Amino acid sequence: MSEHTIPTTTLGADGPEVGVQGLGCMGMSFAYGPADADASRATLERALDLGVTLYDTADAYGAGDNERFLAPFLAAHRDEVVLATKFALSIPPDEPTRRIVRNDPPYIRQAVEGSLRRLEVDVIDLYYMHRRDVNIPIEETVGVMAELVREGKVKQLGLSEVTAGELRAAHAVHPIAVVQSEWSLFSRDIEAAVVPAARELGVTLVPYSPLGRGFLTGSFADASQDLGEDDIRRTMPRFTGDNAAANAALLAPVREAAEAHGVTPAQIALAWVHQQARVHGLPVVPIPGTRRPSRVEENTAATRITLTESELASLDPIADKVAGPRYADMTFTSAGRE
Ligand SMILES: NC(=O)c1ccc[n+]([C@@H]2O[C@H](COP(=O)([O-])OP(=O)(O)OC[C@H]3O[C@@H](n4cnc5c(N)ncnc54)[C@H](OP(=O)(O)O)[C@@H]3O)[C@@H](O)[C@H]2O)c1
Repeated sequence: MSEHTIPTTTLGADGPEVGVQGLGCMGMSFAYGPADADASRATLERALDLGVTLYDTADAYGAGDNERFLAPFLAAHRDEVVLATKFALSIPPDEPTRRIVRNDPPYIRQAVEGSLRRLEVDVIDLYYMHRRDVNIPIEETVGVMAELVREGKVKQLGLSEVTAGELRAAHAVHPIAVVQSEWSLFSRDIEAAVVPAARELGVTLVPYSPLGRGFLTGSFADASQDLGEDDIRRTMPRFTGDNAAANAALLAPVREAAEAHGVTPAQIALAWVHQQARVHGLPVVPIPGTRRPSRVEENTAATRITLTESELASLDPIADKVAGPRYADMTFTSAGRE
């Protein structure tokens, strides 16, 4: 164990110990423009060296490409990694940019077989419902997921972007180990109901986009000008035009805290998310996404930063001032149904 290995926490009430920060692998194949495959592979390896064990993918990231990309890494490190993937975003063969949300039992059975095949593994450690299809009772969806546990195809169950009510109904069918939802200095809607329900039920919170998809780091200011044509951040209302300009002005307290600690704004954004574990009294394992080994070093180092009460007091109000929603269509998020 190196001096820079991150601490661990528990995934669900009786789950495995995982590094307190995971790695989001989506950008290695999808969403944020072209990726350098060699740098991405080096990132996977460096993360493991530093104690990161929860690796996050989904079948929808590049229509299976991200799962296929991870297969050789998993073959080399299967026992060291807690592998999480997801189902629910079906891609019509003739419309590769479209996503249809599906939670029905035949679709889930087909999806899990596809993920196992592409990942080249016998079992998925953590299997998530990626988005909720409101036409299917959640009990029915989780019922099939529970069958997958009994059949040995998956070990633990997770839900992404569910409401507190949906989480409770699901948990009554089978223990839910993890809720994965957006949580950052810019996105705090889950704190009202989802986080308290997770704490009560012994569910671990896995915040996605903890760096606000990179916006909190200051690496881009307006997605429509600074990012490529195929970058999905151009479709997100808070990252373009007047909203982006107003939101960039909210980052001053992040920069001030960074200067005070001699660290980067990215590290302050992550330290804030890590600190929510103490604030809300439950395990929190953010999964920042990066394709660069140096950024894994930077991001994991954020686990060693403690923000002061006065820094929290200047960072906490930011979220309420953010202009524009997280997605153009919020009906697929928990906040859109809460
Ligand atoms: N459940 C869901 O619906 C859902 C939705 C979105 C994402 N996710 C998962 O959550 C993971 C993380 O979310 P995300 O990737 O959307 O957003 P994020 O982690 O908030 O931000 C990722 C962006 O920040 C950049 N970045 C990372 N570290 C940085 C640093 N230290 N300094 C400056 N820039 C940095 C990355 O660029 P580089 O790659 O170039 O470093 C990338 O553009 C994804 O990979 C995916 O696995 C899940």
